Amino acid sequence: MMSIRPFVLQLILAVTCNGYIVKDGNCSMVSEKLPVVKNFELEKYLGKWYEIERYEQDYQRNMECVTVEYSQGEGNQSFEFKNKGLLPEKNAYASFSGSGILSDPTAEPLVGKLNISYGIKHAGDSNYWIMDTDYTSFALIYSCVPIVDTASVIEGYWLLSRMPELPEELQILEKVKFIQNTYFIADHVRTTNQSQSLCRMEPKEPVTSDILIFPLLPDVKIEPRK
Ligand SMILES: *[C@@H]1O[C@H](CO)[C@@H](O)[C@H](O)[C@H]1NC(C)=O
Ligand SMILES: *[C@@H]1O[C@H](CO)[C@@H](O)[C@H](O)[C@H]1NC(C)=O
Ligand SMILES: *[C@@H]1O[C@H](CO)[C@@H](O)[C@H](O)[C@H]1NC(C)=O
Ligand SMILES: *[C@@H]1O[C@H](CO)[C@@H](O)[C@H](O)[C@H]1NC(C)=O
Repeated sequence: MMSIRPFVLQLILAVTCNGYIVKDGNCSMVSEKLPVVKNFELEKYLGKWYEIERYEQDYQRNMECVTVEYSQGEGNQSFEFKNKGLLPEKNAYASFSGSGILSDPTAEPLVGKLNISYGIKHAGDSNYWIMDTDYTSFALIYSCVPIVDTASVIEGYWLLSRMPELPEELQILEKVKFIQNTYFIADHVRTTNQSQSLCRMEPKEPVTSDILIFPLLPDVKIEPRK
């Protein structure tokens, strides 16, 4: 199970760096009202996405130029992915990869919930929910990870785009704004720099591919439950 070790709890009480959103409750409580895509079509979701915004995550800390590429896995209900991001201070790209599978491959209609695993294959958590997407321009992602032996969870939020910039279409901007304002804390949303000047110098080989293991110990900020 993808989860964070108990001694993180001490950090939660002590550390107030920017970053994680911690909420009281379990994931089903916390995400009860969250929208999820219905009639999900995995094939249309595959391909490359650029990260436009996120809640900071420890394994992504300070990363810019983040992209993720989803490719067909075994069968039509699973996929492989490769995440990549620039660590500007190191002037190096880091990458990590994994796989995913529909949380419920038999659901009719299919819903946009996926079980993602980093590295070693296991698919024990429905931890990647697509809240909204049109497949061709944007996707809004949610994740919830329980903190072991606590009654708290860590939330994730990502906005992805097929292009390095989100298209300036009113309909898309309004959807994003609505979901952000309704379910997330706008102040904690971090913009990912996708500028050409920063992102073009992509080396062929990622330099730090093996040092990133999910999950790492987070810097945690306590947020009062809304
Ligand atoms: C989550 O918490 C609620 C309220 O305490 C409880 O009813 C529910 O069974 C819990 N769900 C899980 C999956 O633990
Ligand atoms: C996967 O392929 C099977 C057989 O071709 C088909 O019945 C099913 O609808 C496909 N599922 C998805 C998620 O595309
Ligand atoms: C995905 O994870 C959930 C638990 O969150 C589990 O019930 C389900 O069986 C998993 N799906 C697959 C296809 O492994
Ligand atoms: C992105 O990075 C470039 C190069 O460092 C910088 O010039 C630019 O101001 C940054 N853009 C944002 C939105 O931070």
